[in-house]
Amino acid sequence: MKQKRATVTFQPEGIIVEVPLGETILTATKKAGIILTIPCGGHGRCGKCKVLINKGQNSLKGDFHTKTLTLKEIEDGYRLACQTKVEGDLEIFIPGESRVISQKILSDSLPVKMEIAPVIIRQQLTIPQPEEHSNMADIDRLLVEIKKTFPHQQIIIPYENLQKLPKILRKKNWNITLTYQKTSTTKLEILEIQAGQANGSILGLAIDIGTTTIAASLIDLETGERVQTASCVNSQMLAGEDIITRIHYASANFSNLIRLQNFVIKDINNLIKSFDCKPRQIKALTLAANTVMTHLFFGIDPSYIWREPYTPAVSQFPTIQADRLGIKIHPLSKVRALPCVSSYVGGDIIGDILVSGLHQKDKPSIIVDIGTNGEIVLGCRSWLLSCSVPAGPALEGAEAKCGMRATMGAIERVTINPETLEPTFNIISAEKPLGICGSGLIDLIAELFQAGTLTKAGRFTVRDHSRIRKGVHGLEYLVANKEETITQQDIVLTERDISNLLRTKGAFYAGYVTLLKSFNLTFQDVDTFYVAGGFGDSINAKNARTIGLYPDIPLEKIKSIGNGALGGAGLTLLSEKFIDTAKRIAKSLTNIELSKNYDFMDEYTLASFIPHTHLDYFPTVQKLIETGGIKY
Ligand code: FES
Repeated sequence: MKQKRATVTFQPEGIIVEVPLGETILTATKKAGIILTIPCGGHGRCGKCKVLINKGQNSLKGDFHTKTLTLKEIEDGYRLACQTKVEGDLEIFIPGESRVISQKILSDSLPVKMEIAPVIIRQQLTIPQPEEHSNMADIDRLLVEIKKTFPHQQIIIPYENLQKLPKILRKKNWNITLTYQKTSTTKLEILEIQAGQANGSILGLAIDIGTTTIAASLIDLETGERVQTASCVNSQMLAGEDIITRIHYASANFSNLIRLQNFVIKDINNLIKSFDCKPRQIKALTLAANTVMTHLFFGIDPSYIWREPYTPAVSQFPTIQADRLGIKIHPLSKVRALPCVSSYVGGDIIGDILVSGLHQKDKPSIIVDIGTNGEIVLGCRSWLLSCSVPAGPALEGAEAKCGMRATMGAIERVTINPETLEPTFNIISAEKPLGICGSGLIDLIAELFQAGTLTKAGRFTVRDHSRIRKGVHGLEYLVANKEETITQQDIVLTERDISNLLRTKGAFYAGYVTLLKSFNLTFQDVDTFYVAGGFGDSINAKNARTIGLYPDIPLEKIKSIGNGALGGAGLTLLSEKFIDTAKRIAKSLTNIELSKNYDFMDEYTLASFIPHTHLDYFPTVQKLIETGGIKY
């Protein structure tokens, strides 16, 4: 019997899809290619996937989710997409706050001055023409001239370039431009042969594939300049917001794996289309990503990455021709990935190390890359140690009642008047706020603590105040009242939000200490504390130190390196020595597994307070408390 179906229209795009009756609205959005934010994985717990039913209220099935939606929202027609089933034709409006929007693109950090020795080189040549007594084959004639410049290199001429060779040589009177790609220290492959003198830049593309966002940086390989950047949401979100869901999805069957690969390839091709250049001008691509994302990009089964004993299929990825992967740049150009270290420590961290130069330092330094999983590296030129902390998405705003990613409408900076508790905030690219992102949450907790309004355990000390009130999840601080917000609902910080964030920051701090202890070091021995990823640029380092996310070291020692993954990928395009360095780093990095590390567990418990159970570990905060700079 044919299954009954319903038509669902999504506004404001006007996308219409057909789904079998009984499917959730969330499934219908995926079919429509609309990516909703689903931090709880679609289990009805977070309330972030709410949609507005414009037409068809009677064509729904599912309860009203009074724990996650307010009565007013339910009356107004809001429902949770993950919990509500389609029972007839519907028209649904998707509010901006329920969508995943690509985060603010982070600048990468290519050094201003560096010696450029790119993997792509160009050469103008004039080939001696054949004559009656010199009728050597065109290809031999070409090779003789090339060998004058590159006597020790093996020259590879791909079949595609041989096919049109005779006409190209003769078109501009035997004047040609050759573009080579270095495939190893001893091999040069002819990527392109053009008649006459070729103009236009030679471009390389650096890509950072994040679980949520894909960022791309177009680089001029002759000048080293960053020409353009772009970013988009990773369409793999349609198959699952978090990495584990995607691994399960990809593990189910080969076509799922290829579907995920195709999502990311399509996203990259769309980014390429958005650039002001001809795709063929892009002659090399390097990507940096965590281990799972790199596997999915190459269509390699990631099934065993998250099963004990946590083994990736590949750590040093093959170099593959762009057309084999379906990447729309010059078809013969090579696509590389920064190597991974383990299931948890991927090429993105190798990028961070390359950009920071930590592997060349005499004294130990720390890199922390803050994301859903926090990666930490401690090391210097002699040794490198890493770990991955189970941070969770709290710093991405996913667990907070009014949390959101660092996209349009997010409160990213907050100060609070310690006398009146009135807040002042900065919003990303909007007049009114939509929610609070991670850096805003850190500011709020630090400012409230400094105002003497929070205990070390993150509980409010004040009750009878217009800004602090009782909410569903305990006491809460009113950040913005409904008249000031886009959604016309209050934006608050709850005690539950605070304890989620304290657990996350505790995991980071415990990670630093566990690594340091392995080498009998303390924070006094740390030369520089590098912050990579989304937080480095937007976070208030002083506030991060006050709450104990960063250690208590002088602020001058804390440096942001922006998007280290993108920067590291860019470095390998500009200088081939970085390709070898990346491989060497990956081989020499020792990863410490924290899930069964008792030191880590102990440190984690101690560190889940503001700033720490032992205040003497944070002398700056302690001094402020003693001198009245922090009311405590
Ligand atoms: S994704 Fe629907 S409530 Fe969390």
